[in-house]
Amino acid sequence: MLFRRTPTGWLATAPAKINLFLRVINRRADGFHELETVMAKITLADQLRFEPRGDDEITLSVKQSFPPALGAMEMPPADDNLVVKAARLLQLSTGVREGIAITLQKHVPAAAGLGGGSSDAATTLLALNSIWQVGYSRTQLGELAAQLGSDVPFFIAKAACALCRGRGEQIEPLSLRSRFHLVLAKPRSGLSTAAVFRNCTPEPNGSSAEKWRRIAAQGTIVEAAHCLHNSLQAPAETLNAEVVDMKARFARLGVCGHQLTGSGSAYFGLCRTSRQARCYAARLRQQGVPWAVVVTTQAELHRKEALQRA
Ligand code: C5P
Repeated sequence: MLFRRTPTGWLATAPAKINLFLRVINRRADGFHELETVMAKITLADQLRFEPRGDDEITLSVKQSFPPALGAMEMPPADDNLVVKAARLLQLSTGVREGIAITLQKHVPAAAGLGGGSSDAATTLLALNSIWQVGYSRTQLGELAAQLGSDVPFFIAKAACALCRGRGEQIEPLSLRSRFHLVLAKPRSGLSTAAVFRNCTPEPNGSSAEKWRRIAAQGTIVEAAHCLHNSLQAPAETLNAEVVDMKARFARLGVCGHQLTGSGSAYFGLCRTSRQARCYAARLRQQGVPWAVVVTTQAELHRKEALQRA
């Protein structure tokens, strides 16, 4: 998370993620699915502004600037927004009596499998931990984060890339040697995470994520492309014909590898260079795909940067 002071408050960025690998292992008695997934933070991010209030109220105003072809994003009422839930959870857990006015500028589409809402919630926990001088460790914040959603703890962690297990909340940082150049696109319709999981077929004996330890650290783009996998792609295709269409378009582009991210409906392709990614994104937009952008995975933080971001 990038976090800095402004004349009226604080500004923070909340990065999105992609799933380079996601294997659903089995369905658990609590209704969740046991999985192993390799998630990588990307350069696409929402922005959050925090301004102090004179009372203990938590308020949220949301702004979005998506291309008209993608359509306006339906946002839940403020009380149901994960950002407000995160702020209230921290208030409750610490007894802090301060409030906060939050402005969320959305750049990450919702119902896309990009973790936008989860990252916004994690960023809120990290930012308010500092603003309210709570002093929780990342481990303590991670425990609160897991109560908000399976992907939220990944965004609390400093790591740019991680192998995540359990329902997604057990984080093992992975070293990511190089940035991946990606073309990222989303059809107009989104997908419900719960519905996609309900329709998936677990792969208890499927190929494991272990190989990503080496590939993330020192693999080539071609090796990475070979090891892409997502158990949620098949159910997403069954539920949403636009995902099938997106897959066909990416297959024709000639990217090194491509797949759905998370439970979709966003889709990404691994490219050899940033120039190639820009060219493919432009081609998708020309074809009428409502949202196609170029991003990279986040580079591992250098020491100086890491200190600024801590
Ligand atoms: O944890 P989160 O609230 O993001 O999950 C949304 C829904 O996705 C859950 O209610 C559950 O139906 C499904 N899910 C799952 N297994 C996971 C993560 C999510 O079945 N590991």
